[in-house]
Amino acid sequence: MINEGVVNVSYIIATVLFILALGGLSNQETARRGNWYGIIGMAIALLATVLSDNVTANYAYLILALLVGGTIGIILARRVQMTQMPELVAILHSLVGAAAVAVGFANFMGHGGGFSGIEQTIHDIETYVGILIGAVTFAGSVIAFGKLSGRIGGKPLTLPARHWLNLALLLGAIWFGREFVQQSAAGGGMEPLIIMTVIALLFGIHMVMAIGGADMPVVVSMLNSYSGWAASATGFMLGNDLLIVTGALVGSSGAILSYIMCRAMNRKFLSVIAGGFGTGGGSSSGGSTEDQGEVVPIDTQETAALLAGAKEVMIIPGYGMAVAQAQHTVYEITKALRAKKVNVRFGIHPVAGRMPGHMNVLLAEAKVPYDIVFEMDEINEDFPDVDVSVVIGANDIVNPSALTDPDSPIAGMPVLECWKGETTIVLKRSMATGYAGVQNPLFFKDNTRMLFGDAKETLDEVLKAL
Ligand code: TAP
Repeated sequence: MINEGVVNVSYIIATVLFILALGGLSNQETARRGNWYGIIGMAIALLATVLSDNVTANYAYLILALLVGGTIGIILARRVQMTQMPELVAILHSLVGAAAVAVGFANFMGHGGGFSGIEQTIHDIETYVGILIGAVTFAGSVIAFGKLSGRIGGKPLTLPARHWLNLALLLGAIWFGREFVQQSAAGGGMEPLIIMTVIALLFGIHMVMAIGGADMPVVVSMLNSYSGWAASATGFMLGNDLLIVTGALVGSSGAILSYIMCRAMNRKFLSVIAGGFGTGGGSSSGGSTEDQGEVVPIDTQETAALLAGAKEVMIIPGYGMAVAQAQHTVYEITKALRAKKVNVRFGIHPVAGRMPGHMNVLLAEAKVPYDIVFEMDEINEDFPDVDVSVVIGANDIVNPSALTDPDSPIAGMPVLECWKGETTIVLKRSMATGYAGVQNPLFFKDNTRMLFGDAKETLDEVLKAL
């Protein structure tokens, strides 16, 4: 319906909008605008693609597919709880991987192409690599979904000689790639393609199964990156420039995010991929509660009194704040304290919660002003001057054993050093461990008080008392 020139111009406009979207998303204040750029860019890209002269299929099928996919998407997005977002993201990544595999096979079976000679070889390599990345992304994302939703345990699967196994799978994939290109030139190739797909699926499963709970943030962003490269490879297969560019944008921004996550957790990217960190079930030393001493409980009235009498308050939100949906009450308390001339700040750990930026999203939703929300690096040295730190449903990100116990699954991860302040109040329901499955010596320190209960309920009472 619209000619190639119009399609190309639309693709360029969409690309620019996607770049603006990424730029916008890098900052809380511009994130909303960034999202709109992305939405408009995607709408233009979809319309230009669907209406282009290249689409010769029956529109009824396309509309049906869009309706089915769109309806499932709307239902999922409406139903999903904020705490389930990482799982949703993981399962959506798996769909990108599955799509790359499906397009690759469809392409190979003769629905695309029309190449010969060296062009055919290049196209075969594109198809092979696209299916390879797609299958790894699909399998890895399904396992990540299982781990994030608790359907699969967080404990890393450390098979004997697992690095050799990975190497063997990689060499196998390369060898069958050679076979595929040769056989494809002679009109065959389906067999090596299927064998490689199985190898890639096994590799994806093994790679994510070997990664322990504490390293899941890196896996989430890494799979995000893979899904981009899978889309980009699909773009090469289909000869669609926009898909190539969009995939590359997602792939590279995901890679940068993985790097940031690794830096935040003080991990080397390769050692995360190699797996084995994060036991998911109690640490070597800090495991049991008994050998760490007594915890001192506090009630909501005392908490309110401590807060009202403080000059400097630091609020440290974690995953439990998302579970309790306590962010609105947190902001009401912040306003009440600020009215009493208490300086309230928020300290955000880069891997707090279950997805990058999780806490920032919650605080923005509750309309907490951005200028009192600080990244860990910006405020970690200020704790000696803090009167009261309030840890709301956070655990691993305030665990001192990350700095002191080299055998801990979170060893080496920088944490918010709230114990250096005068008093720390920890809000949680029980003495249960956090995501990494390690006990937290912070709870047993002399200057720590435990406020047990659901964070929303206890904070509502604190607000009333204030
Ligand atoms: P966690 O270490 O998981 O601790 C959360 C704590 O919240 C739990 O100990 C839990 O204790 C408490 N909690 C749960 N529901 C609560 C409620 N309704 N009210 C009050 N407390 C509640 O969280 P964190 O400190 O935010 O650390 C994040 C962890 O997740 C890290 O290990 C990180 O590596 C991992 N992770 C992060 C990401 C990203 S990208 N951010 C992705 C995957 C994994 P109770 O059960 O006793 O209440």
